[in-house]
Amino acid sequence: MSSGPDLDLDLGPDNLDIVDPDSYLRGFPHATFQRLRDHDPVSWWPEHDGGKGFWAVTRYEDLLYVSQHVELFSSAEGITLEEIEGEDFHLRRNMLEYDPPEHTRYRRLVSKPFSRREVYAYEEGIRGLARDVVLEARDFGDRFDYVDRVAKQLPMRMLGRLLGVPDSDGDWLVEQGDALLGNLDPEMTQYPVGLTDTDEFKHIPFRSPAALELYQYAEHQADLRQGCPAHDVIGKLLEPTIDGEKITDLQFKNFFVLMVSAGNDTTRYTMAAGLKALAERPEQFAELRQACIDGNTDLVESAVEEILRWGSVTMHFRRTATQDTELRGKQIKAGDKVVIWFSSADYDERQFPNPYQFDIHRSQNDHVAFNLRSPHLCLGAQLARMELKVLLEELLPRITSVQLDGPIERLRSNFICGMKRLPVKVTWA
Ligand code: HEM
Repeated sequence: MSSGPDLDLDLGPDNLDIVDPDSYLRGFPHATFQRLRDHDPVSWWPEHDGGKGFWAVTRYEDLLYVSQHVELFSSAEGITLEEIEGEDFHLRRNMLEYDPPEHTRYRRLVSKPFSRREVYAYEEGIRGLARDVVLEARDFGDRFDYVDRVAKQLPMRMLGRLLGVPDSDGDWLVEQGDALLGNLDPEMTQYPVGLTDTDEFKHIPFRSPAALELYQYAEHQADLRQGCPAHDVIGKLLEPTIDGEKITDLQFKNFFVLMVSAGNDTTRYTMAAGLKALAERPEQFAELRQACIDGNTDLVESAVEEILRWGSVTMHFRRTATQDTELRGKQIKAGDKVVIWFSSADYDERQFPNPYQFDIHRSQNDHVAFNLRSPHLCLGAQLARMELKVLLEELLPRITSVQLDGPIERLRSNFICGMKRLPVKVTWA
């Protein structure tokens, strides 16, 4: 791995407004966040849409501190910038929006099907799906949009297999998932928050009508399993735990919506970020391709971790201060919103040597893309890792080269860092 600046990465201007979704249309504004990490690591940002403003925590070490001190920085008042109060919030609340001990109890109800062992039981089926999608892309030719043909197709179909829903529902689920997380982008939803009136949806997750459709779908799936228990993830979620605790109907529906949102775009955009990084670095592409052919799982897994760090697709989550406190000399008041920026922490040079270099060999890659050292560590981490690994193993041996082939289009969002279109030209083996 060579040293020196990574010229393929556009760091952008260093003075962008990090609240404005338009600031992310050219990619994550690294130079702006580097300036914040260096000169104002806990900075105050006013909001333009009536929000009360927030503190932006941009360094790795501080992100861990905020994530781990749940008694000071609570998730129970919402985890996105949007401020939701009272009954509206109670109704649309998901497990991310609880603190211990309620959160610990909730997590116990749903975590079993997501362990590494349980997830790997689905590996062969997931590999088959990845192979089918790659072969379908090959039928299409050597120039295609990687997001549309590959990255968008897989995560939801893969999650669908675990959930035990029909493969034919995959496209519909993808559409609903897109409308949830793309809720600021007019291309993803008829009701972009901030651009249209979404008041009537304020009591449902993501303030999006797609969540209502998903509630109904989840209820239907639960009904199908009544009296006829299934060994899929939905079946397991509906079973009582060994302590006899059972998920409530509302918790189940909100958790279903959470899976469809969290398990869709995040993995898709990480897949796209990974392929773009490899297309721009033919030597690493060739080395990783050979590792996939040789069955060098260690290198493939290390590449997956680097892709996760590099992509860091959930750019931030929010906490709320429970009492007056101080962070890097800033006086934070009880009730202030404190936003932790994963995409900034994952490029913090205090933690990662040469952070702007993509390196499939990176050692000690303790990235925070899944916020793994927090009580809210991503429940889908093992699933996402397996999906990314299987896709590399099925795709790379079948292509001998990949190049970018036209303009990239990005999601208009200050929350999810994603490519909507990634045109590529490949040479099939
Ligand atoms: C590359 C893909 C993914 C990324 C980058 C990602 C990122 C994250 C992050 C950063 C959190 C922590 C949130 C916080 O601290 O408040 C989280 C939580 C969560 N993720 Fe993921 N995620 C991914 C894939 C998935 C998948 C595939 C699923 C499920 C199907 C999933 C389900 C969840 C759930 C349920 C939580 C909440 C955990 C809790 O509150 O205890 N994620 N994810």
